[in-house]
Amino acid sequence: MPPSSPSRIASLYVHVPFCAQKCEYCAFYSEASSGELINRYVAGLARELELVAGDLRPQTIFFGGGTPSLLNLRQWETLLRAMERLDLLGAAEFTIESNPATVSLDKCKLLRDFGVNRVSMGVKSLDEGLLDRLGRIHSREMVFKSFDTLRRAGFDNVNLDLMFAIPTQTMELWRATLREAMAMQSEHLSSYEVIYEDDTPLFQQLQAGEFSVDEELACAMYEELLATATGAGFRQYEIANFAREARSGVGVAAPASAPPPVPALACRHNVNYWRGGSFYGLGPSATGYVRGVRTKNWANTQLYCEQLEKGRRAIESTEELSPLRRAGELAAFGLRMNAGWPFEDFLRVTQFDLRQEWADEMGRLVARGWAAITGDRFHLTHQGLRFADAAAELFLR
Ligand SMILES: C[S@@+](CC[C@H](N)C(=O)[O-])C[C@H]1O[C@@H](n2cnc3c(N)ncnc32)[C@H](O)[C@@H]1O
Ligand code: SF4
Repeated sequence: MPPSSPSRIASLYVHVPFCAQKCEYCAFYSEASSGELINRYVAGLARELELVAGDLRPQTIFFGGGTPSLLNLRQWETLLRAMERLDLLGAAEFTIESNPATVSLDKCKLLRDFGVNRVSMGVKSLDEGLLDRLGRIHSREMVFKSFDTLRRAGFDNVNLDLMFAIPTQTMELWRATLREAMAMQSEHLSSYEVIYEDDTPLFQQLQAGEFSVDEELACAMYEELLATATGAGFRQYEIANFAREARSGVGVAAPASAPPPVPALACRHNVNYWRGGSFYGLGPSATGYVRGVRTKNWANTQLYCEQLEKGRRAIESTEELSPLRRAGELAAFGLRMNAGWPFEDFLRVTQFDLRQEWADEMGRLVARGWAAITGDRFHLTHQGLRFADAAAELFLR
């Protein structure tokens, strides 16, 4: 382990590149795999953690994928004990992504015992036909059962992850899923519109003309999501993310003169990304960003394991972004959040002034009704958030 550096990195992402089966729409790096390769990966990851531990004091940890909940009890225990030995536990927020088909009470209890305190559950839909259409391996009943298991194991910070504008999904089906999801009373909700990623079966079906995309319906579904989530007590803080101000049964403090930029139960790990914080990214295909340098690990689990077995990190590329390019990226990321960018914060983080460097772009978005300047910050409007990707592109340099 390298000697500890004075100000260590406070955020850690770990990619788990395994799924029981690939979903029709998903282009994230993962493969259907079993036994031996997963054990090798666990050993490799423990080694990679060891290589960076001296520079890490994680306040947020996020195991994403892939399907982290696919690892079995023994594999999780090996990993968590390695993290314990390396003094990497104790984060304020420790999230694991899960698929409802791979949640069990003994695993959940183990995770809780080692300080995992947040679970994101991939629900996608509560309609049996759509789950099947998406190639999900779980049923709607498994969603309810696994949610109950999480609660019984003591998880009081759970994200439900939904999708909308799924081919053949009607507004009625979307409303029914939203209604049932709200009734579950999770602390957090994320909901993404389907993206047609190259090289996925869903994209190929679209190309082959098996169905068409109804943009108007997708917009209406997004509006329905906003209205339903807000009506159920969530606050939107990013295009696709909603959180509560407090856990149910816990009173909300009287509002200060201005509400905080994000709700109390927002995902701190993701807020750190959108605000330009450093983070280590470990595991196959993971990207990291540490003190101005972006790294990308090999998106090949075999190769990843071989590198770590030789005692070196499995980095495919590193890139030092120019300060202006990084600032442009950060402007784009930050605009995804409802709070947008306070001018002074942006200046402090990037050393660039939005009001000077991007005055034209800001003006154009304001004129179009997509953005506004409120007090000391620049942010997208309700309409602008719907087109945030197009808006954000203007800021890239
Ligand atoms: C890759 S999944 C990992 C977690 C877990 N395996 C699951 O199935 O939920 C993480 C996120 O990616 C989103 N996602 C993956 N592919 C997508 C696509 N083509 N369009 C929209 N969202 C997508 C999922 O909805 C989810 O929010
Ligand atoms: S959505 Fe989740 S379960 Fe499905 S293939 Fe992607 S990572 Fe795996």
